[in-house]
Amino acid sequence: MLTRLHNRASALDEACLRVLGYPHDHEIQQELLSALEWDGLLHPEHAPHRIRTLLQQVRDHSHELADRIRSGQGDPKSTAQLIVHSIQSLRQSLASLVKVIDRAPEASHLSDRRVIGIRTPATEMDKELSTAAESWEKLARSDPLWAVLSDADKRARQWNVEEFFETGEVLVERVCQRAASAGVQLTFGSAVDFGCGVGRLSRALAHRFTTVVGIDVSETMIAIARDLHRENANLSFLLNKADNLHSCPSASADFVCSHITLQHLRPALAKRYMREFFRIVRPGRHVYFQLPSHLILRPDASVMPPEDCRAELAISSDVAGLGPGSAGRIVVQVRNAGLAAWNAPLFVGNHWRDQQGNVVRYDDGRALLPPLAPAEAANVALTIAAPPVAGVYQLEVDIVQEGVRWFADVGSPTAKAWVKVASNLPTTDRQSLPRSIADNVDLIYSPAPPFEMHGIDLAEVEAIATACGMRLVRCDLHATDWLSHEYIFERVS
Ligand SMILES: C[S@@+](CC[C@H](N)C(=O)[O-])C[C@H]1O[C@@H](n2cnc3c(N)ncnc32)[C@H](O)[C@@H]1O
Repeated sequence: MLTRLHNRASALDEACLRVLGYPHDHEIQQELLSALEWDGLLHPEHAPHRIRTLLQQVRDHSHELADRIRSGQGDPKSTAQLIVHSIQSLRQSLASLVKVIDRAPEASHLSDRRVIGIRTPATEMDKELSTAAESWEKLARSDPLWAVLSDADKRARQWNVEEFFETGEVLVERVCQRAASAGVQLTFGSAVDFGCGVGRLSRALAHRFTTVVGIDVSETMIAIARDLHRENANLSFLLNKADNLHSCPSASADFVCSHITLQHLRPALAKRYMREFFRIVRPGRHVYFQLPSHLILRPDASVMPPEDCRAELAISSDVAGLGPGSAGRIVVQVRNAGLAAWNAPLFVGNHWRDQQGNVVRYDDGRALLPPLAPAEAANVALTIAAPPVAGVYQLEVDIVQEGVRWFADVGSPTAKAWVKVASNLPTTDRQSLPRSIADNVDLIYSPAPPFEMHGIDLAEVEAIATACGMRLVRCDLHATDWLSHEYIFERVS
């Protein structure tokens, strides 16, 4: 009986989530209405008292919601608001009910995947998607905010949460302004944020759109996003481990947004999602996404000849006081010991070795160097992250021309220091994080795997869009190592 109740609650929650995404959609509202028919289906007289009480609460909220849907003939906007409000109350009581069922001894056979709000993909996930999902899951458990926005200075859980979310506001404002200056009138109804992470952009979108659904492949990202945005009634999050967006009906969204997500997917998968964005957007409404086309070798980033790769390095600050996985900041003095100026982008970086000289972690921190003339020197602050296990390690600092070589590979001396990582010293653990993030990450920080990067040619993106009935209204370029495009499309048919 508890299994049926659990499944029933999960199905109802799914129906609620769909309406939160599309509160004006009559058809989806009707689906929810039939999912709300609790009475007569379940009479768990023999269930524990707590379950019966919660079930009663769920029924009460279900009736209230059903009444609101049935009587929704007035102003559609205020009706949608009332419905959204009732859904929040119902989802809260459903979540409590499911939690209690999960803890009941006779429910031990219930699979973890049936946790409320977690959607089992309709199709078998392909290997590629599940590998990518696993690595995002590791990234999320290691350093969720940095995994979303990988600013070198913010590694090892150094992001301030408010500053982090402010970056989302800035980005969404920029996209809206760009749309406006291209003569596009966005409709601020329902928005979908694909690859939402912890909801950096979803939150900013929710300040402008009536409802927002954030979608992500990582359970931990979604858990943090939900925890951080409990109070935001018009914002919901959906775990989606499928290579499609079948949970979103065709022509149902006013705006689809996806930033720094498609670039981490293999092109075939990215194109599938892209087609899904074009499917779910309503005619006359808009899709924004960012995607690089290709890696660029800027003129100043040409390969430096080995004889120019000579540096004198010194660690000019104390490296004591590191606990396992803790973040520290060191100052490195760098002198150009070659005969030519360093104009190409170069970084100070570090490795960690054990006492036998074996590499424990090769790529750790990075800090950009200013251009240096021969014999010129500069002090650079570098954020390092200690290995996750206590012990004595060698910290080795070097210069890298990214994608080309470390200077040590062509004989330039590195700077080294022995560092004791002691278990009685502070770690970059969960203590320093807000509760909603701390509850979902690993206790001790340990660096996660690197990101994959991919691009799709602009002409190919445009061809797919055109075939899906879209018109490109604006495309902004942004060049780092990659030539990146920020597209705004309008659905014309
Ligand atoms: C770099 S983060 C960007 C997050 C967010 N768009 C932002 O700008 O704040 C990329 C996000 O995409 C998610 N992601 C990666 N592959 C995905 C997939 N196949 N489906 C949905 N989300 C995915 C990751 O879990 C991660 O949260």
